[in-house]
Amino acid sequence: MLAPPLRQQSLGAGRVSQPPSRRRTPNPNPVCHNAAAQGCDPPSPTGLQATQESPHVYTREEVRSHSSPETRIWVTLGCEVFDVTEFVDLHPGGPSKLMLAAGGPLEPFWALYAVHNQPHVREMLAQYKIGELSPEDKVPSTLKTSDPYIDDPVRHPALKVNSQRPFNAEPPPELLTENYITPNPIFFTRNHLPVPNLDPETYRLHVVGPPGGQSLCLSLDDLYKFPKHEITVTLQCAGNRRSEMTQFKEVRGLEWNIGAISTARWAGARLCDVLAKAGHQLCETEAHVCFEGLDSDPTGTAYGASIPLARAMDPEAEVLLAYEMNGQPLPRDHGFPVRVVVPGVVGARHVKWLGKVSVEPEESYSHWQRRDYKGFSPSVDWDTVDFDSAPSIQELPVQSAITEPKDGETVQSGEVTIKGYAWSGGGRAVVRVDVSLDGGLTWHVAELDGEEQRPRKAWAWRLWQLQAPVPAGRKELNIVCKAVDDSYNVQPDTVAPIWNLRGVLSNAWHRVHVHVAP
Ligand code: MTE
Repeated sequence: MLAPPLRQQSLGAGRVSQPPSRRRTPNPNPVCHNAAAQGCDPPSPTGLQATQESPHVYTREEVRSHSSPETRIWVTLGCEVFDVTEFVDLHPGGPSKLMLAAGGPLEPFWALYAVHNQPHVREMLAQYKIGELSPEDKVPSTLKTSDPYIDDPVRHPALKVNSQRPFNAEPPPELLTENYITPNPIFFTRNHLPVPNLDPETYRLHVVGPPGGQSLCLSLDDLYKFPKHEITVTLQCAGNRRSEMTQFKEVRGLEWNIGAISTARWAGARLCDVLAKAGHQLCETEAHVCFEGLDSDPTGTAYGASIPLARAMDPEAEVLLAYEMNGQPLPRDHGFPVRVVVPGVVGARHVKWLGKVSVEPEESYSHWQRRDYKGFSPSVDWDTVDFDSAPSIQELPVQSAITEPKDGETVQSGEVTIKGYAWSGGGRAVVRVDVSLDGGLTWHVAELDGEEQRPRKAWAWRLWQLQAPVPAGRKELNIVCKAVDDSYNVQPDTVAPIWNLRGVLSNAWHRVHVHVAP
């Protein structure tokens, strides 16, 4: 709903402007010269007041009648009225999401997608202002108060919160590599919607059968009857380390530091066993396994994603319908009672609160499969992006980061200990981590810790560390790390050549600048 501006037009504060093409309904009641005096909550929701001309005043009834492209599409925020017709097709969340609010208030939707409630979104919205609501027509309080996140679980205070609603948070770097297996309470969390509260007794997983075959409706007990498979898998969000891309040039997305990655021991039924039970087989033609979550938006649209059928049916790929995380039932934030775990693949495909599995000729039509989680050239911007032109991200590239020391810290002279993690997608094992203390002029090879990884099934990260002498007389160190995987893929040295408008796939050399104690 009215997410980040696709075209930046600057507007002088204190002015209400109208795009030239905008048609205006004749104002039947031009009386509201002073919004504050009419009972509107100051300051105006967009923070921009109409001072140069009196705003037009509309009734809620009039706003309601503008809810289609034919009548034009109006919405309200607080007392202000906006004509967003030109913006609907540009809405990054998809036109259908914005159309939900057509002819009515944005508040209930902004409560759900709290990411909208930011200065740049309000500034962008201000460009579409056409007037104000008549004083009798303020937003009904029932719409203002309902909070779809009221039932979200309580979270661990150590998590660094990137967004509260929906909840997105990462463990601080110093805790991230404290343990090879990330403890459940500090495992990073990436939610797009409120967390559903599902009853394990009544939970059912629908597995659609092949044409002419039988569909399955599985309870948790039914899932427990499949052979239990247990594997250690690292899960990484495509947006991990996005904040480094932002430093180079603005991107749209949550400002993840280096902690949108964590590792757990997952247990559950293998997807290939469940698909086989439903009668599915590998087919000659390309097919996809589509997953739907039980978290949904106000239209009832669920979170969804898909993976190729070939991966899903491959027993060696070890795709799980997981019901345990580190020996415990899945925590609510991580998909209770059942989630998909796709080893070696971007976090977005590990669908939580799994409700439905089906085999389709096409990829999932979900927004998150087709209109997000894709990579583009640095030359592509929001005016030129064509989401259909890029494949959805599946396997992730090689990655590493330094968790100790922290940027800006002061280290002792003599010897410095450097720690971090390294991981690669697609089951490719990390074979080496190179660390430099001088910005990449000279290199040391770090010691790899953690579980030895199986060839082609290196699903989990390696932790690494290096004890290195601090060169005499140095007042500061530019520490850099880069990992190499068993296909000899290496990380790029800088962000610039891999920058993309959504800030995904950020895997340039990780750099930490520290001072040396005198
Ligand atoms: N599944 C559902 N149903 N809803 C979601 O919002 N987020 C996805 C994926 N699965 C998501 C989901 C994304 S983008 C990521 S990175 C991972 O879940 C994060 O999993 P975690 O929160 O357990 O770390």
